[in-house]
Amino acid sequence: MARTRTKTVYECSECGIAAPQWEGQCRGCEAWNTLKEVTQTRSTGSIGRAVSRSASPAVLISDISTDTSRRISFGFPELDRVFGGGVVPGSVTLLAGDPGIGKSTLILQASASIADSGLSVLYSTGEESGAQVKMRAERLGVGSGDLYLQSTNRLEDVLTEAERMKPSLLVVDSIQTVASAASDSLAGTPSQIQACAGSLSEFAKKTSVPVIVTGHVTKDGGIAGPRLLEHAVDVVLHLGGESTSGLRLLQGFKNRYGATNELGVFEMRENGLKGVGDPSKAFLAHRRASAPGSAIASLVEGTRSITVEVQALTSPSNLPTPRRVATGIETSRLHLILAVLSRRLRIPVSDQDVIVNVPGGLRVSETAIDLPVALAIVSSLRDKPLKAGLAAAAEVGLGGELRPVQQGERRARESARLGLTSLILGRQPDQEARSREKAAGAQHCDMLAEAIEEGLS
Ligand code: TYD
Ligand code: MG
Repeated sequence: MARTRTKTVYECSECGIAAPQWEGQCRGCEAWNTLKEVTQTRSTGSIGRAVSRSASPAVLISDISTDTSRRISFGFPELDRVFGGGVVPGSVTLLAGDPGIGKSTLILQASASIADSGLSVLYSTGEESGAQVKMRAERLGVGSGDLYLQSTNRLEDVLTEAERMKPSLLVVDSIQTVASAASDSLAGTPSQIQACAGSLSEFAKKTSVPVIVTGHVTKDGGIAGPRLLEHAVDVVLHLGGESTSGLRLLQGFKNRYGATNELGVFEMRENGLKGVGDPSKAFLAHRRASAPGSAIASLVEGTRSITVEVQALTSPSNLPTPRRVATGIETSRLHLILAVLSRRLRIPVSDQDVIVNVPGGLRVSETAIDLPVALAIVSSLRDKPLKAGLAAAAEVGLGGELRPVQQGERRARESARLGLTSLILGRQPDQEARSREKAAGAQHCDMLAEAIEEGLS
């Protein structure tokens, strides 16, 4: 016989880990004052009977159809690319980003585009009224197709309507504003987010309807609520950018059905988000070429090559442990580069505060960014601009060597297209590749010291 039991626990609003009593610091993520009281309801019952009647019998692998081949295109190339060609039936995607960055705008444009192609979309929002969404749709000049709006905060309403309609896409804007009756915590709390994500995922798998949920991120870039949300979904996309520039970047962080390093570049206009055809030009638009501390990085993100500025600022520190701040690159990469500069090249960076930034809001995961970061730091330290028209792409090794990166020739071509005069690449052991890269305008440096000499002489 199933029984219900309730108990009170204290749950961390950052990581979702529960403690039996209130504590000042969370044992999971070590955040302070994040524990909140919640009541948990649990059903206990006979497990034996549940096990004997399996609801999901095993199926022969050859009998399973792969829905991935039936991706639904958004008809929006920038968005399709990041999704790996479109949204996969039965998948759950989390579209995360800062409040006000443009998640609702992007997802409404995408929904309308799908609806215009003759497929039905259920757009359920807990953030706005139907009239508000309609006004936005009018501003965007969309909304003539099979697009249905629902304004509710109850997950059960969303699921009932979705079961009835069987749309081609279900959008829930946002996961923080819906609540399930199965959990009596408030909307937006970790247990609610977890419960809702679980139910939506179950719905998607059962019906093959793809689900896209939006979610706000916290100040430090984490997705508000439990990290568990990232595990509960199939695809995690992050919409970022700098509110001042109007550039918006959509980057994948997890994709069970495709590559995660694809990048979508948009511009926020009066009438919504528009794909940017030449992102490198947009990234370099505000660069002051003669400024010390500025370098150009030639990157390959997914299937596209992209050129960005890297800025560094060094200043003598009066702290026992100087500050290292990295935006757009991993702090651990910055630490590595500084250690190499200090130990291998005897460049005095250990008593400097160092700030590194990739303007435009791109989060770079490619190690090709190492060399441009090192060049920008030394340029700032010496207060001397880098040679005009110079781009760079190489990974810095712990011995101070420059390791080669993939697709050097392509990067050199892209640099030339942008009017840059040279691209510094690392050691290239393959003779043939080396000559091809040279012919495309690259020069090779085996060691970081050499590249600094080249860029700052
Ligand atoms: P929104 O999609 O509501 O952000 P989110 O859902 O991530 O919170 O976007 C809000 C911002 O976008 C707001 O500052 C207004 C701006 N915006 C435009 O510049 N052009 C437009 O066409 C739209 C719809 C919004
Ligand atoms: Mg919104």
